[in-house]
Amino acid sequence: MQIHTNFSLKNYNTFGIEAKAKQFVAVHSIDELKTVLENHATEKKFILGGGSNMLLTQDIDSLVIHIDLKGKKILKEDDDFVWVESQAGENWHEFVLWTIDQNFGGLENMSLIPGNVGTTPVQNIGAYGAEIKDTFVSCEAMEITTQKMKSFSKEECRFGYRESIFKHEVKDKYIITSVIFKLTNRNHKISVEYGDIKAELAKNNIEKPSLKDVSNAVITIRNSKLPNPKELGNSGSFFKNPILSREQFLKVQEQFPDVKHFDISETEVKVPAGWLIEHSGLKGYRKDDAGVHKNQALVLVNYGKATGQDILSLSKYVQKTVFDKYGIAIEAEVNVI
Ligand code: EPU
Repeated sequence: MQIHTNFSLKNYNTFGIEAKAKQFVAVHSIDELKTVLENHATEKKFILGGGSNMLLTQDIDSLVIHIDLKGKKILKEDDDFVWVESQAGENWHEFVLWTIDQNFGGLENMSLIPGNVGTTPVQNIGAYGAEIKDTFVSCEAMEITTQKMKSFSKEECRFGYRESIFKHEVKDKYIITSVIFKLTNRNHKISVEYGDIKAELAKNNIEKPSLKDVSNAVITIRNSKLPNPKELGNSGSFFKNPILSREQFLKVQEQFPDVKHFDISETEVKVPAGWLIEHSGLKGYRKDDAGVHKNQALVLVNYGKATGQDILSLSKYVQKTVFDKYGIAIEAEVNVI
């Protein structure tokens, strides 16, 4: 286990931002993780997974610990379900493809989401009508100060829309080391209602889609809207979709009758931030190397040389423009460091 100093994080964040870590170490086992935490007990630490949900606006004056724990296995199965465990450092999309190859159902709608398995519970990742909480059973995590392992059940994680306990009560206290999912072994619940999946399948004359068909449709849709971080630095949705009280929503709708929205409950309405940004005239907007993506306004991109500060300024400009027009505050979804 080598500790690097003054280490470039450019290849460790999907925005492709140049920032340096004071110290950097990659850990490949629970024992290595324990040793690093014990040996550096008093130092400031920063835990890094796949780097797909953060914006680095400065160098990190800490020991960066990159979680590179690998491995996945079937824990048990019966006729209907299978319990699979993945270590935190597995790439999410590769894990999803592996489950589909085994004909295990439940994760196919979340194909191609960037990042590693260990960070998926933190913000309860989701796409095309599915969220991690639908198949999540539990995760193992190491307490940073004591190095004791603890298992978090689904209830304990308190999942919400892009929310969990790991963003609140136990923030920066635990490192997730593995996650267990319960997937279907047969009678898969194919879900194609959301968004463009149905249309994409119809285009290919697929009437009874397999898990692989759904995954392929999602991959095609995502590729058409969302930039590949390997080609154009980005962090997926930069903002969360704001949830308004019905009262506030009705006021907005009075002034802007065509505002897109989804009812969440009697009292709450979700408005797509992408719609608000696009209708504020900012889709495709670019300032130097920082931009609003041309196909999905919720995504901010780095055309090459943008700094974290450039992206941050752009995000503030977007927030202000949307607020000035609609009176709606949109919140960042990515972690601004
Ligand atoms: N819209 C626009 N203009 C845009 C973008 C969206 O008008 O530039 C409208 C669309 O027409 C649509 C609505 O907004 O009516 C929703 O758009 P979309 O289905 O593309 O989804 P989203 O709400 O913009 C969310 C997730 C994505 C996920 C998609 C698909 C959040 C913050 N984002 O985006 O997640 O892939 O749904 O399920 O909830 C991510 O988190 O990184 C991410 C990409």
